[in-house]
Amino acid sequence: MMRPEHYIAHLNRHVGEEVTIKGWLFNKRSSGKVAFLVMRDGTGLCQCVMVKSMLPPEVFARFDQVTQESSVIVTGLVKADPRQVGGHEIEVRDVQLVQIADEYPITPKEHGIDHLMSHRHLWLRSRRQHAILRVRNEIIHAIRTFLYERDFLMFDTPILTGSIGEEAGTLFSTEYFDLGKAYLAQTGQLYGEAGAMAFGKIYTFGPTFRAEKSKTRRHLTEFWMMEPEMAYYDNDDCMDLQEELICYVVQCALDRCMDQFEVLERDPALLAKVAPPFSRLSYDEALAKLRSLGSDIEWGRDLGGDDETILTQQYDRPVFIYDYPRAAKAFYMKAHPERDDVVKCSDLLAPEGYGEIIGGSQREDDLARLKSRIAEEGLPAATYEWYLDLRRFGSVPHSGFGLGLERTVAWICGLKHIREAIPFARTMARLYP
Ligand code: 4AD
Ligand code: MG
Repeated sequence: MMRPEHYIAHLNRHVGEEVTIKGWLFNKRSSGKVAFLVMRDGTGLCQCVMVKSMLPPEVFARFDQVTQESSVIVTGLVKADPRQVGGHEIEVRDVQLVQIADEYPITPKEHGIDHLMSHRHLWLRSRRQHAILRVRNEIIHAIRTFLYERDFLMFDTPILTGSIGEEAGTLFSTEYFDLGKAYLAQTGQLYGEAGAMAFGKIYTFGPTFRAEKSKTRRHLTEFWMMEPEMAYYDNDDCMDLQEELICYVVQCALDRCMDQFEVLERDPALLAKVAPPFSRLSYDEALAKLRSLGSDIEWGRDLGGDDETILTQQYDRPVFIYDYPRAAKAFYMKAHPERDDVVKCSDLLAPEGYGEIIGGSQREDDLARLKSRIAEEGLPAATYEWYLDLRRFGSVPHSGFGLGLERTVAWICGLKHIREAIPFARTMARLYP
């Protein structure tokens, strides 16, 4: 049998037994008669102790040969030791070297971000990156569990599309046989609406693309978005669901990721404050508040990254901003019943200066109004006929939202930049590795 029988994360089940750990050398040190290998196997770290007097000379000599990130198989006796990383130590009986690694490009010394991003395929092995991607995994699991338990259907939407989902300015396109241009999906939403009319409550969860010429700590060109869509939900129902989801996800992270938060030096007390109710400010109220904080934002503009930072530094839990100006938002948002200049939508801004993690809205369910909005935005009407059909055949009030996974991970982990929140970030300036 090749596959590992034991993993470091489960050593507590094997105290007093002999185990074999298959992994890589994280680091090593020696005092001559006793040598220490810190092993990693993807599930954790474990110090393995080599005592010269207890090992055949050819086995002890492997300590000198083994280099950082060499692949190594260690067999030994498990001892509980709360002072050691992971709470255990292995008394080595045998060491096998699978491959001796070349000089490793990432050492404990400080490296510049460009060097690290260019070695992202290796940087993933370091403790901090490891912790972030474990938190990401828990967040994804929590989101799926939350929605599954509430009878949402997972509904996969296409990545190659013929209609523009959000806005014409940030599309990636490719030639599509004899059919002209295909776009990489900016959102799964429009297809999600078809799903909601078929199944009532659905969600999409997949990669989305924006050819955004923004070099900020919040923007990727490829990111993962989770988009629920619900029939017979108005925008207030939609905000209630977002609040419940975010509280659930943060609670799961607190339950399962304390080790990771420690590595990341993320204060869990800040996350523990995330509880209902979240403040709900109209766009008009948000603008007044921003101006009182020194911003010169004009009515009609979407909130910029800086505005969101100033505003959310005032809050210790997420805050909703609702009813944005029509001109600042996408064509599909429902007109406000009493006001011509705003639409029924909301953004959810994460606290501590993080800003928008969710954008959502009620959708325009009136055929004539939706048609005129498509025309007004200069969008190619023919590619939306199928979408208009959803208003011809059993149109109902409905709402949905899109949660940006990497922005959510960045906030929960307390990261300065979104690029660490995804295994291989795609930005304007990076396509390698
Ligand atoms: O606000 P957005 O553009 O909304 C939509 O795409 C809607 N169709 C969603 C819906 O109602 N179903 O994007 C939603 C979220 C943002 O709040 C943000 O978290 C994330 O997606 N996002 C980005 N994340 C990283 N890089 C970018 N360039 C992003 N653009 C949006
Ligand atoms: Mg948005």
